[in-house]
Amino acid sequence: MTKTDLMPSLLIRNIKTLVQAEVNPRKVVKGADMAIVPTIHDAYLLMENGRITGFGAMDTCPERADEVMDATGRMVFPSWCDSHTHLVFATSREEEFVDRIRGLSYEEIARRGGGILNSARRLQETSEDDLYHSALERLYEVIGYGTGAIEIKSGYGLTTESELKMLRVIRRLKEVSPIPIKATFLGAHAMPVEFKENREGYIDLIINEMLPKVAEEKLAEYCDVFCDRGFYTVEETDRILKAAAGYGLKAKIHANELDYSGGVQTGVANGAVSVDHLEYTGDAEIEALLGGDTMPTLLPGCAFFLGIPFGPARKMIDAGLPVVLATDYNPGSAPSGNMPFVVALGCIKMGMLPEEAINAATINGARAMELEADYGSIAVGKVANVFITKPIPSLAYFPYAFGKNLVESVVLQGKAWTTPRQ
Ligand code: NIG
Ligand code: FE
Repeated sequence: MTKTDLMPSLLIRNIKTLVQAEVNPRKVVKGADMAIVPTIHDAYLLMENGRITGFGAMDTCPERADEVMDATGRMVFPSWCDSHTHLVFATSREEEFVDRIRGLSYEEIARRGGGILNSARRLQETSEDDLYHSALERLYEVIGYGTGAIEIKSGYGLTTESELKMLRVIRRLKEVSPIPIKATFLGAHAMPVEFKENREGYIDLIINEMLPKVAEEKLAEYCDVFCDRGFYTVEETDRILKAAAGYGLKAKIHANELDYSGGVQTGVANGAVSVDHLEYTGDAEIEALLGGDTMPTLLPGCAFFLGIPFGPARKMIDAGLPVVLATDYNPGSAPSGNMPFVVALGCIKMGMLPEEAINAATINGARAMELEADYGSIAVGKVANVFITKPIPSLAYFPYAFGKNLVESVVLQGKAWTTPRQ
């Protein structure tokens, strides 16, 4: 490689606290270890060719780099890893929000043909280009909150054509995105009205038509199913996940949002990379999770917005489990992709310590996307995706001051990030 091929080096100096700085990078953080976030005070961070190449105390700081930033009074975090989103959608659904304020439940709205089916109707009528531009805007929005790796699902198509349209939008996002994106096929998100009396017919369509096309075009890494009361049963979920595995798609499922659905156990039995939601998690679910490598992922933005119980993060961590926090960014149950707010909710509503919430939103989130080798912490060799905070007095101040925008600047692949104008 010639000198001109090299990207300029970037040095951040005088960092008040370098957060999640790992000498021996961990793949996952569980149980009591979740309360530990390695930090270095009065630190520097060196990035070259898009990767982290050095960090340490200021008295060992390199003399020069191509570019230098001063972070006096500020902390540097590894970017958030948001492992569960539905970032591609046609329109917002605030009319359902108002219906819920007036007394209807999320499930009642879904039974009336609202909810996911409402988003599907609108998405089917929206062009791939329009979906792409609105999703790109949301991607840039969440990058501004400090997100540096993300998963995005289909699931608002519910026809072969529209599911593929969503996944092609995600592929286009991957081509231009400065952060890695993992794509998840969620054809089994809801039962389309025309298949209400013929559930088997839709599941056959997923297995015999959608999955082969998704695999042929290499449009997704994972397969998701909404395994819950009123959506997909354990048996249906199992069938779909096994068919997906035959095409090399690993599972990452929605489970136990509305009831003790058996979804957690089904996910673990199918070797799911993660099982997500878990508002209804009891001893049997915890037992199942302790027996596997599946990452339990909690989505407090959804519990907050829908007014449903928060997942029992405290109980899960005390049982020795790892916990992941993600946004679930979607128009129906969590219309926000704000990871700092999710971290704050983890602390305020789920009894997580700031350190536990930070581990859940960084290294464990990376693990829930199988990206932990390259993202989720400050470690030599990892991709240099980090953010610099505004001046803050302590680590705990970050979730404490909920709703305050404390992300001052974002560095992606070792370069200061500015949002392009669309
Ligand atoms: O993760 N629970 C299922 N799916 C989404 C919500 C989808 C919607 O309401 O549009 C979720 O909460
Ligand atoms: Fe979701």
